[in-house]
Amino acid sequence: MKIQSIRGTHDIFGSDLKKFNKIRKQLVKIAKSFNFNEIHTPIFESTTLFSKPLGQQSDVVLKEMYTFLDRNKDSITLRPEYTTPMIRAAISNNLLNSIPCKLFGLGPMFRRERPQKGRYRQFNQINFEIFGTSDYFADVELIIIAHNFLKSIAPNLKFKLFINSLGDKENLKNYKNDLKKYFLKNIKDLSEESQKKIHSNCLRILDSKDSKDNKISLLAPKIISYLSSESLNHYENIKKTLNELNIEFIENPFLVRGLDYYCSTVFEFKTDSLGSQDTLIGGGRYDGLIKLIGGQDLPGIGWAGGVERMILLMDEISKTEKLIHFAILKDNFKSHALKAYNQLSSKNLPVFWNYKYNLKKSLSQASNENASHIVIIGDNEFEKKKYTIKNLINGSQKIADLKDLEKIINND
Ligand code: HAM
Repeated sequence: MKIQSIRGTHDIFGSDLKKFNKIRKQLVKIAKSFNFNEIHTPIFESTTLFSKPLGQQSDVVLKEMYTFLDRNKDSITLRPEYTTPMIRAAISNNLLNSIPCKLFGLGPMFRRERPQKGRYRQFNQINFEIFGTSDYFADVELIIIAHNFLKSIAPNLKFKLFINSLGDKENLKNYKNDLKKYFLKNIKDLSEESQKKIHSNCLRILDSKDSKDNKISLLAPKIISYLSSESLNHYENIKKTLNELNIEFIENPFLVRGLDYYCSTVFEFKTDSLGSQDTLIGGGRYDGLIKLIGGQDLPGIGWAGGVERMILLMDEISKTEKLIHFAILKDNFKSHALKAYNQLSSKNLPVFWNYKYNLKKSLSQASNENASHIVIIGDNEFEKKKYTIKNLINGSQKIADLKDLEKIINND
């Protein structure tokens, strides 16, 4: 019986795992330099944590959640995103007693979407969230972090930052009313999918991928004329500061994001190098969400980035680390070899015992696995209690005592 992996899931290993680890390393580094605290939350939560906050009519809630009844009939959902669990965790653990509360995390999310390149049913997200401030500088700070992070993991990648403001809840309500009226007037020219969204989720017609919808949206009312002076001021300050920092951005009045909790600033980092799944990072403000989940009435803002999409775009990581293979030519040389094996591994040098006891096979495996060195133990080395150490990158070879092996490898 050959058991297949579940559609839309994938294993991460080899060069992708190296990229994954680089992402994790850069994430921790950047989070530390901006003083964000790491948090891990459970992979499953009560379904109610997601259903209302993400929007009853959002695709994530309507079609994509992995929801099941536990044995005691509680409804449980595999987390489709990280913002709501982080808020739940901040409330549960009293982290909001000290604000601003700045958290970050990395972990798997689950959405039952149609799998394609860059879109999976289990995927990893990195997340940054700031709870407890409406200062526009928090928006800028998060954009700087996202920008620096992408530059650090993929220095050659070309990406674009798109921004928009959805105003406060009142601005958005008025805008949605007028937008609905406008789309109703033009209903016959909209795609079938968008026609269905007019009453349930008319904002999403604006970012439809159908060209018929895009044509109608071009002449639709624009959110900017609905913003209160406070919202407008917030948005203007962000743009001014990004300009001062030379962070390029494009204003996109059709950027609305897929989850219901957003208001005010929304932003996305996109690339032309990924096909249709082109958003690397998406985020925005969600004032009101913390209260909805049972906390104080605090504002919040954050972003999430898709790790698998980043991996697809990263350059191969060249191998500079050491890896020491062993060629032990006879079975009874094992204990002599073991002394070197133990000593090098105890100094944190990665060693590899191939169980082959054959020079040709050992050399060929060392070369296949890009080993940096091979320690050879033949008759001569065994008799003289020495080790031949061959540098597989430049071909040089030395005979050494046990005590000198580490120094030779590290100086190579
Ligand atoms: P989102 O736009 O749904 O936002 O997802 C953020 C990112 O996760 C996307 O831009 C994409 O890179 C990645 N992503 C989403 N779905 C998939 C998938 N099926 N396969 C691979 N990658 C995927 C959120 O989740 C919000 N919680 C972001 C946020 C944080 N807003 C405020 N704070």
